[in-house]
Amino acid sequence: MVRVAPIVAAAVLAAMTLAAAPTGRAADEATPDAARQRELITLLRQDCGSCHGMRLTGGLGPALTPEALKYRPAESLVATIVSGRPGTAMPPWRRFVSEAEAQWLVAQMMAGATGGR
Ligand code: HEC
Repeated sequence: MVRVAPIVAAAVLAAMTLAAAPTGRAADEATPDAARQRELITLLRQDCGSCHGMRLTGGLGPALTPEALKYRPAESLVATIVSGRPGTAMPPWRRFVSEAEAQWLVAQMMAGATGGR
């Protein structure tokens, strides 16, 4: 009996740690995991790049460089990615990209992740 208590205590601690884990990560929930980040960067280079230019410096679509996006509200850029711009060539991406992922992509573009200025 004397030996049971520490084991129970350890189990309770482990359960508490497990229960606490998702709460502790809540702040990061909007950030895609590393594998998804790689997929999104590939999407940005290849799919978005087909219209916005390989380095996002513009093509059929406007430049998506830090310089070009400097005064654009991130929220409206996110909405454009998720919903597209009806009447233009910019398609909606909601089937491929969640709103949180679009937010992450906008942050990448504003940080110059694909090399354009
Ligand atoms: C088929 C061509 C095409 C593809 C593919 C495309 N876009 Fe666009 N995009 C456009 C066009 C054209 C516009 C400008 C729409 C307008 O005239 O308002 C635009 C506008 C935007 C804007 C708004 C820019 C601003 O200055 O307001 C953002 C942000 C954007 N696209 C991001 C993306 C992202 C991210 C992807 C990939 C997930 C993507 N686009 C893929 C054609 C495209």
